[in-house]
Amino acid sequence: MPHYIERGSIPPKRHTQFRDAGGNLRYEELLSRQGFSGDHTNMYHLRMPTRMAAVGRYMDRPLKRAGEVPHRHRHLRTAVVNSTGGPVGSRRVLLYNQDVVISKAHPNEDLNSFYRNGQADELIYVQTGAGTLSTNLGLIRFKPGDYLVIPRGIIWQMTFDSTPRLLVIETRGPLELPDKYLSRHGQLLEHAPYCERDIRTPEFQPPNDEEGEFMVMLHMGEGIQEYIYAQHPFDLVGWAGQCYPWAFSIHDFEPITGRIHQPPPVHQTFQAPGLVICSFVPRLFDYHPDAIPTPYYHSNVDSEEVIFYSKGEFMSRQGIEEESITYHPMGLPHGPQPGKYEGSIGVKATDELAVMIDTFAPLTLAAAALGIDDEDYPMSWSV
Ligand SMILES: [Fe+2]
Repeated sequence: MPHYIERGSIPPKRHTQFRDAGGNLRYEELLSRQGFSGDHTNMYHLRMPTRMAAVGRYMDRPLKRAGEVPHRHRHLRTAVVNSTGGPVGSRRVLLYNQDVVISKAHPNEDLNSFYRNGQADELIYVQTGAGTLSTNLGLIRFKPGDYLVIPRGIIWQMTFDSTPRLLVIETRGPLELPDKYLSRHGQLLEHAPYCERDIRTPEFQPPNDEEGEFMVMLHMGEGIQEYIYAQHPFDLVGWAGQCYPWAFSIHDFEPITGRIHQPPPVHQTFQAPGLVICSFVPRLFDYHPDAIPTPYYHSNVDSEEVIFYSKGEFMSRQGIEEESITYHPMGLPHGPQPGKYEGSIGVKATDELAVMIDTFAPLTLAAAALGIDDEDYPMSWSV
């Protein structure tokens, strides 16, 4: 998480009596990571957060694998994936393993009920569309190019002002700022490609005092459990801590460049157990007189590479389009397409915008990927 902040009204000392003007006690809830040994936030409720009206339905949503498919490089045209519904219901899982689930979503509805992921942190990359993420900790307004980071346990809704298309990455372990960018006490270091001022935190909203029936969809296992709460879930008078939703625009990522080709770690933006997430942004190319700006062919034998092409012309690829995903599994080398290696010599800059997810365990192709898979892609290097 980025850094400690406070919002609304909180007591001067944690775990002590905190009352309103009428003497009514507030109810403290701790949201904490890694048991009680990680980042945490203390939240102060009007009512007990455990006060429930009913346990609702369980809806099974199993991950569906594509079946026995050949091991090969893939190009998924995600712009045409069949997806409708809200920002959760419209998700179409494309690739997954024990550490991460990667989906594309083209919502055509707002999410006006409440959602809580109980088992994964969510990173939502906003390809198109603007809107508002409303959470129990406050509002975050978003626009194209934003990464929305929503830790598990946060309760949220989402409304859109324009047509959204979202890349959704769910991580089984904590999604964090990369360790290599942080000081011993957690401040972003001078060499990091972004700093605290680039991070947008929730705008606090007054507590909602409504009682009634409020349905929260809890994502657990491979399904959704509905819970009916007896009060509005957004009833916080204040909170303080280091575990909260936040936003960061890919356009605020300051690229690190060099005289010769810089490897993917310079583009790293997030870390989570079993994966890294990188941002490729417009930048000047390498300035050694004999530099080759595209990557060399590479066998990164311990990882799988997934790249989502957001905007611009990607320096090393041809035949891809906006919202394409390329998937280069471990076991094979990959690299620039014919003509791209030689063609990059002397080029001064790139306007590419892309999100890369490198996983350290093999991914499984999901059934929804089959209908958008470009079967000719593995042969695209054969000239
Ligand atoms: Fe690569």
